[in-house]
Amino acid sequence: MSTVKSVPKKLTRTRRRTKLDRILAGEVPAKQKNIRVARHPGAAPLKKARDILAEQPVKKKKTGKPQYIVRDEYFYEAKKLGYRARSAFKLLEIQEKYNIIRTGMKVLDIASAPGSWLQVLAKMVGPTGVIAGIDIQKIKSLGYQNVHILQGDVFVTEPIVEFLK
Ligand SMILES: C[S@@+](CC[C@H](N)C(=O)[O-])C[C@H]1O[C@@H](n2cnc3c(N)ncnc32)[C@H](O)[C@@H]1O
Repeated sequence: MSTVKSVPKKLTRTRRRTKLDRILAGEVPAKQKNIRVARHPGAAPLKKARDILAEQPVKKKKTGKPQYIVRDEYFYEAKKLGYRARSAFKLLEIQEKYNIIRTGMKVLDIASAPGSWLQVLAKMVGPTGVIAGIDIQKIKSLGYQNVHILQGDVFVTEPIVEFLK
């Protein structure tokens, strides 16, 4: 009977190269493919969040849960531009591609902590629009008159209905 344990398939597979990998290797000019790579000046080559997670030591929180902190290009770019999270760039990309948010719109952002989408949305709708953000976690005020924040569970609808009136 063999005592050698088989390596899980997931660990033996090599990662498929993405278009972004090819751009970063200089094989595909980003301009030609109409792809914009947000870079922080003087930054190291862009790495995917999962590569960074694989490299960094896993810190343990007091609760005993491992804490993962992704510090990639988007993290530093978000810091530089004053966004509360790197996810701000996701919404900016969606907007660039689909142009879904217009000036003066009323937008409900469900699960909005720490508030980076609220920051982006506030700029997109302008002072004539209204934004409502709901999250189970507390969101610090963003200082916009037209951004309303509620702390609550999205599955408990009554306070949300009241809030939106
Ligand atoms: C990825 S974050 C959202 C990031 C956010 N869009 C931003 O702009 O930075 C997901 C959020 O979902 C929230 N969440 C998860 N379950 C929830 C629930 N039942 N009700 C309200 N918020 C919830 C979490 O608290 C967390 O802040």
